[in-house]
Amino acid sequence: MFNSYLTCTKFRFFIWGFSSSTATVALTLVVFAVISGTTLANVISDASKLLIAANDTTAHASCATSSVGSAEALVSNLFAAINTAKCELTNASQWPADFADEALREGLEKYDFVIVGAGTAGSVVASRLTENPRIKVLLLEAGEDPPIESEIFTLSSTLHHSPYTWTDFGEPNPNCCQGMQQRRCYWPRGKMVGGSSSMSGSIFLLGNKEDFDRWRLLGCDKWSWEEMKFLYEKALKASQHEVVDKPVGTVVLNQFDHLEEHNELAQLMLNASSELGLRYISDLSDGTIVGYTDAIPANIEMGRRMSVAKTYLGQVSRTRPNLHVIKKAMVTKILFSSDNSRAVGVEFILRNRHRLKVATMSEVLLAAGAINSPKLLLQSGIGPSEHLKALRINQIADLPVGNNLHDHGMLPLILKFGREINLPSSMAEPQSVADYFLRQTGPLAASISIMGFINTNASSSSQYPDLHLVSHTIVPAGTADSFKFLQLRDEIVAGISRAADNKSLLQIYGSLLRPLSRGKVRLRSADPQAPPLIYNNYATESADQLTLLRYVRFVQRMCTTAAFRNYGLQLLHVPIEECDRLPYDSDDYWLCYIKYLYIGAWHPVGTCRMGAYTDSHAVVDQRLRVRGVNGLRVVDASIMPEITSGNTNGPTTLIAEKAAVMIEDDWKEELT
Ligand SMILES: Cc1cc2nc3c(=O)[nH]c(=O)nc-3n(C[C@H](O)[C@H](O)[C@H](O)COP(=O)(O)OP(=O)(O)OC[C@H]3O[C@@H](n4cnc5c(N)ncnc54)[C@H](O)[C@@H]3O)c2cc1C
Ligand SMILES: *[C@@H]1O[C@H](CO)[C@@H](O)[C@H](O)[C@H]1NC(C)=O
Ligand SMILES: *[C@@H]1O[C@H](CO)[C@@H](O)[C@H](O)[C@H]1NC(C)=O
Ligand SMILES: *[C@@H]1O[C@H](CO)[C@@H](O)[C@H](O)[C@H]1NC(C)=O
Ligand SMILES: *[C@@H]1O[C@H](CO)[C@@H](O)[C@H](O)[C@H]1NC(C)=O
Ligand SMILES: *[C@@H]1O[C@H](CO)[C@@H](O)[C@H](O)[C@H]1NC(C)=O
Repeated sequence: MFNSYLTCTKFRFFIWGFSSSTATVALTLVVFAVISGTTLANVISDASKLLIAANDTTAHASCATSSVGSAEALVSNLFAAINTAKCELTNASQWPADFADEALREGLEKYDFVIVGAGTAGSVVASRLTENPRIKVLLLEAGEDPPIESEIFTLSSTLHHSPYTWTDFGEPNPNCCQGMQQRRCYWPRGKMVGGSSSMSGSIFLLGNKEDFDRWRLLGCDKWSWEEMKFLYEKALKASQHEVVDKPVGTVVLNQFDHLEEHNELAQLMLNASSELGLRYISDLSDGTIVGYTDAIPANIEMGRRMSVAKTYLGQVSRTRPNLHVIKKAMVTKILFSSDNSRAVGVEFILRNRHRLKVATMSEVLLAAGAINSPKLLLQSGIGPSEHLKALRINQIADLPVGNNLHDHGMLPLILKFGREINLPSSMAEPQSVADYFLRQTGPLAASISIMGFINTNASSSSQYPDLHLVSHTIVPAGTADSFKFLQLRDEIVAGISRAADNKSLLQIYGSLLRPLSRGKVRLRSADPQAPPLIYNNYATESADQLTLLRYVRFVQRMCTTAAFRNYGLQLLHVPIEECDRLPYDSDDYWLCYIKYLYIGAWHPVGTCRMGAYTDSHAVVDQRLRVRGVNGLRVVDASIMPEITSGNTNGPTTLIAEKAAVMIEDDWKEELT
C-alpha cells in the first residue's frame, strides 16, 4: 500500500500555474512525463537540452534583461549542482554488478544456491547466505536496476504501467473490482532489483502478535511472535540499536519527514480518533494494535528509498566474489534430476534472447513473489494435477500451488470538506525540486502518513484490530481526476469530480487485516512468457463484506466528531449507476459499493502456503521446503499461511531472515 497517492494532483497545479519561459517549458515537460509515466531520467535530459537551447540567441532575445555573464554563471551552477545530485541518486554502484556478460562469455559454473528474484526476500537471503565466503550464490532477476523514480519515493507511484512493473490483471469476476478499468482487479508488482519494495510505500510493520499465534494454530509451531521480534532486532542496522551487543543487519528505519503543512490534517485525524476513544500508538514495533498514529516506521532516509535490496544486497554485493547477480534474467523452469526427486538447477532467458541453464549443488530458492513463485512452480510441474494435465505439463508433484491467494484489499471512502484546510504544497514547484535535489528536504522528501487500526466489532474489547485505515490524504479542489491513479473507470472518476463540486476532498481507505476470501493463481498456457491467470475473489465471503460495512459505519461515526464537524467533513456520494438504484446509505447500498470499489492493496500472499508436514493445504513445510521434492524452497511472501495485520514487506523481510538461518543449518555439514 502506498501513502502518497496524490502525486499527480499536485503536479497538475503546477502546469496551470505557470508562464511559458523556456525553463518552464522544460519543467512542464518533466511534469507531463511524470504523469504519463515516462521515466524522469529521460525527461530531465530532455529538459537540460531545452535549457541549453535557452542559452542560444533566440532565447536570449526573449529575455527582458541582458547579462554580462555572472548571472548566467550562477544559473548554470544551480543546474550543474542539481544534475550532480541527480547522478548521485542514480549511481549504479549502489546496485550489484551484472554478471551477465561474463556468463555469456565464459558460461556458468555450478553454484551452491540459485535464487530466483532479487526482490525483498531474494535480496535478504542472497546477502545472508554469502556472509559465509564458502557459499556460492547466483541471484537471477527478471528486471534491471530501479530508475530514479524509485529513489525519490514520492514519485514511485509513476512506476505503475512502466517496464519496471509486472502489470497483471485478475480474470473478470462480476462480484469484485467492478469500478476498475475493464472491470478487472489490478495486480502490479515491481520488476526490478528490489522487486515490489522498489515501488512500494516503504512502510515497515511487523504485524500483530496474534497473527503468529494463528500461524501456530495452523500447524506452524516453529514460527512465533517472539521469533519475529528476535529476527527484527537482528535485521536492524547497528545504529538503530540502543546497545550494540546483538548480531545486526542493515534494515534502515526512519519516520517520513513531516512538513509543518501536514500538521493540520494529522491533528484533525488524531483528534477525531481520540474522540472515538482510540489511543495514540507511539511504537509500532510492538505490533499493530488498536489505535491511531502518525509515527510510522519506513525504509527511508532523507527522502530516499532504503529498500532491503539496497541495504542488504547493494551495499555488499561488490565486495563478495561468492555472489553473482544476473539482471534481465527471466527464469522459465526449474530443472529436476532424471528421477524427478531433486531440483538441480533452472533454465532462464537472458535479455529476451539467450536461453541458459545453471546447475546447483544444494538448492534452488524461489523468491519471485506471491504471484510469480507459484507460477514458476506450475510451469515446472509442481501444482494441482488436473491443471498440469490440462496443460500437458509433466507432473513432478501434486500440490495445492497457487491456492490461498489473498491480499488486504482496500475500500476507498471519499469525504468532502465543508471549509478549507491547509493544502500540501506542490512537489513540482521549482522550489520543491531544488529543495529535494540540493538538500533532500521539502515536499518531495516528505510524506503525510497517518494510520488507524481498529476493531470493528463493537461487542469485543480485543486489541487485535481487524481493519486498517490508510492513505489519509487531501485531494485539493478541482483535482479529483487524480483518482484515475487507482485505475478506476473514467465514468467513476468523472462522477467523483462532479460530486466534489470543486471542494477539497479527504480520502481514507479501509483494508481488511484478516480477509477470509481467497483467490488463486493458475497458468494461462504452458508458455512461460504468458501472464498468469489470477482469480480474484475480493470480499466474496460475507464476513469480509460485513467487516467492510462496519468500517463504513466507523467513518460515518468519525463524521459526527467535533473535529470532523469543525471542517464540515461529510461522505461524498460516489455516483455508481447500479448501486444508486438502492436506497442510499442502506446496508445493501454499501454492499454494492464494495463490489465496485473494494480493490487491491498490492499485498499478495499465501500461494505457496506453509504448513505442518501432514497438512494437505500446504505447499512448503515449516522449513520452507517444497513438499515431495528435494533441493527446492520458497522463501518469499507466498509462504504466509494467513496475511499479517499490516503491510507485508516487513514480515517478508523477516521470513527471508529466518529462511537464511534454516538453510545454513540444514547445509552446515556440507558447506563447512
Ligand atoms: C505498489 C506497491 C506498494 C506497496 N507498498 C508497501 C508498503 O508501503 N509497505 C509494505 O510493507 N509493503 C508494501 N507493498 C508490498 C511489498 O512490497 C511486498 O509484500 C514485498 O515486496 C514482497 O516481497 P517478495 O520478495 O515476496 O516479492 P517482490 O519484492 O515482489 O520480489 C519478487 C522479485 O522476483 C522477480 N521475479 C519474478 N518472477 C521472476 C522470474 N521468473 N525470474 C526472475 N525473477 C523474477 C521480480 O522481478 C521481483 O524483483 C507494496 C507493493 C506494491 C506493489
Ligand atoms: C551560455 O552561453 C555563454 C556564452 O556563449 C557560454 O559561455 C555559457 O557556457 C553557456 N551556458 C550553457 C549552460 O550552455
Ligand atoms: C557512487 O557511489 C560510490 C559508492 O557509494 C561512490 O564511491 C561514488 O563516488 C559515487 N559516484 C557518484 C557519481 O556519485
Ligand atoms: C485538535 O485538538 C486540539 C486540542 O483540543 C486543538 O487545539 C486543535 O485545534 C485541534 N486541531 C484540529 C485540526 O482539529
Ligand atoms: C464480536 O465479538 C464478540 C465477543 O468477542 C463475539 O462473540 C462475536 O462473534 C464477534 N462478532 C464478529 C462478527 O466477529
Ligand atoms: C474551484 O475553486 C477554486 C478555489 O477553491 C477556484 O479558484 C476555481 O475558480 C473554482 N473552479 C470552478 C470551476 O468553480
